[in-house]
Amino acid sequence: MPAENVGEDKNLVTPEAATKQEITIRQMDIDDIAAVYHLGENLFTSEEFPILYRQWDSYEVAQHFTSDPRYCLVAEADDKILGFILATTIEKEGTAWKKYGYVSWIGVDESYQRTTLGRRLYSRLEDRLRDDGIRMIIADTEGDNYRAIAFFTNLGFVPRKEHVWLTKTLVRPITKRTKKRTRQPKQDRIEQPDELHT
Ligand SMILES: CC(C)(COP(=O)(O)OP(=O)(O)OC[C@H]1O[C@@H](n2cnc3c(N)ncnc32)[C@H](O)[C@@H]1OP(=O)(O)O)[C@@H](O)C(=O)NCCC(=O)NCCS
Repeated sequence: MPAENVGEDKNLVTPEAATKQEITIRQMDIDDIAAVYHLGENLFTSEEFPILYRQWDSYEVAQHFTSDPRYCLVAEADDKILGFILATTIEKEGTAWKKYGYVSWIGVDESYQRTTLGRRLYSRLEDRLRDDGIRMIIADTEGDNYRAIAFFTNLGFVPRKEHVWLTKTLVRPITKRTKKRTRQPKQDRIEQPDELHT
């Protein structure tokens, strides 16, 4: 998410109106997969979430739903999905707690943000993780997603350390074949026997 004014108020629904509306937090079911995916599509665009190891797609939603249904929750009112949280657990031998909760994705419909929906979704998840013996929960987000950082901090998360990711573009090695290809002008090129049917 791009840098933004943390205090920016884009609410269309006031917290008071949201508390009057009957919003249910419940475990996700199979029929919610499409709605959760489309809500996330509006919230996690690829320019805003450039991390390559985590990509928002329908497979991501279906995979969480299949592997950790207990940790997939939605907020719903009048048959509309207004928010979701998808989480999992990670086991790491040789570490203090061995098994950790991991908040993979959380999203709230823009018009319902700052109405405590995110907090309610997270609290329900935390109860479940605690009941399952989890003692530490991890969340991560882009360094400039100030909204999410403020949210997690408010819930008692402590920023740990910067996660730095690096990239290197791999240039294809020059072989005899690629040399030949680059030397030959395109219009004169005759297909080589070993290129047929490739
Ligand atoms: C992050 C997100 C889920 C928060 O959900 P939310 O329902 O708006 O959050 P809540 O209303 O429950 O806020 C709880 C607390 O978090 C903090 N907080 C939440 N949004 C904030 C914001 N935009 N600016 C400052 N603090 C914020 C506040 O302390 C807030 O308490 P308060 O309203 O009493 O001050 C929501 O902003 C969202 O969907 N963002 C886009 C998706 C995203 O970035 N997800 C996280 C990475 S996966």
